[in-house]
Amino acid sequence: MKKVMLVFGTRPEAIKMCPLVNAFKENENFQTLVCVTGQHREMLQQVLDVFKVVPDYDLDIMKKEQTLFSITTSILDNIKPILEHEKPDIVLVHGDTTTTFATSLASFYLGIKIGHVEAGLRTYNVQSPFPEEFNRQAVSIISDFNFAPTEQARRHLLNEGHHPEKIFVTGNTAIDALKTTISKQYSNDLFEWIGNSKLIMLTAHRRENLGIPMENMFKAIKRVLDENQDVKVIYPIHKNPMVRKIASDIFGTEERLKVIEPLEVIDFHNFLKKSYLILTDSGGIQEEAPSLGKPVLVMRDTTERPEGVEAGTLKLVGTDEENIYKEFTKLLTNQEEYSKMSLASNPYGNGTASQQIVYILEQHL
Ligand code: UD1
Ligand code: UDP
Repeated sequence: MKKVMLVFGTRPEAIKMCPLVNAFKENENFQTLVCVTGQHREMLQQVLDVFKVVPDYDLDIMKKEQTLFSITTSILDNIKPILEHEKPDIVLVHGDTTTTFATSLASFYLGIKIGHVEAGLRTYNVQSPFPEEFNRQAVSIISDFNFAPTEQARRHLLNEGHHPEKIFVTGNTAIDALKTTISKQYSNDLFEWIGNSKLIMLTAHRRENLGIPMENMFKAIKRVLDENQDVKVIYPIHKNPMVRKIASDIFGTEERLKVIEPLEVIDFHNFLKKSYLILTDSGGIQEEAPSLGKPVLVMRDTTERPEGVEAGTLKLVGTDEENIYKEFTKLLTNQEEYSKMSLASNPYGNGTASQQIVYILEQHL
């Protein structure tokens, strides 16, 4: 029997790793261990509860004003004795967070094999997203198994000289998760408040957008709201106090914009499904929206998820106030433009990525 340890720490990693945890647990050829770093606390716990995943280890590292330094060093120090004690045959990490990077580095130092889920995404600009582009490239250098969500991600890895036998295209486990959350019967008390208005879902949290770029986004949204009475915005806000300060300074007491606590993933996905369009700087939402057929204005300068742009669902609008205002207004007033962007397409596989990863490791580990 092989011992696999899945390590994750933030909300998006948890959403995309929990389906994989549960797939491993169903397979008797593996002993499955889960270690959470606790880089996020409440936002991580929400996801663990939904997927009924109980970690074997919790490094519990989150601090209110954590820095890249404190996250990295706390993980390295705290995970070392656990890895030395458990000696897993492989550690699985996900994506591009500091949890992903520090855990991979610790595994590399101890000579433990690394499997990278959601490998090969690239912007090739290490400043954007920061520090995620560095994290994901760094993990690729030391990972033994690369689970690429798309052919394009595989091509990036091949072009960088990674061995073809280490790369497997599986689709994205985000779709595995999405298959379990969306329900036609779903309802929520907030739907009454939305009434017949066009629902806009907003999320924003990126580190490189904190400050002026985020102020620009929020000012543009406020202008559009003021000019369009049939629009309501729901903003489940990230727990980061810096994000909360900017939002409260700019949105104040807007009547048709509700800032609410982060939604549980089942709620959030069903709110996306009900929405007219999505405004975000998130990565994961760019994977989910195309299969729901919801136009997304991506308030960033770069994206590592060009598949959704090619499919026509995503548009990169940057962080300039005028441009966000213009593109947002266009989707509210130009039906042809809206219809072009709201065609459902799913470049991220058929929702079996977790099963494929388990199968691949069964064959190759
Ligand atoms: C992290 C990831 C980012 C990912 C994002 C998902 C890095 C460098 N960044 O960024 O790639 O897109 O998670 O949301 O790994 N906080 C809470 N409770 C929580 C979660 C966060 O209070 O449940 C607050 C804390 O004050 C914390 C702050 O948010 O210090 C920032 O969290 P952190 O993980 O450092 O950065 P994110 O912007 O969340
Ligand atoms: N999400 C959620 N509740 C919310 C907002 C987002 O469950 O209130 C989910 C969303 O569906 C996606 C993931 O969180 O799966 C995205 O996480 P986030 O934007 O924090 O990080 P990123 O993907 O940018 O790394």
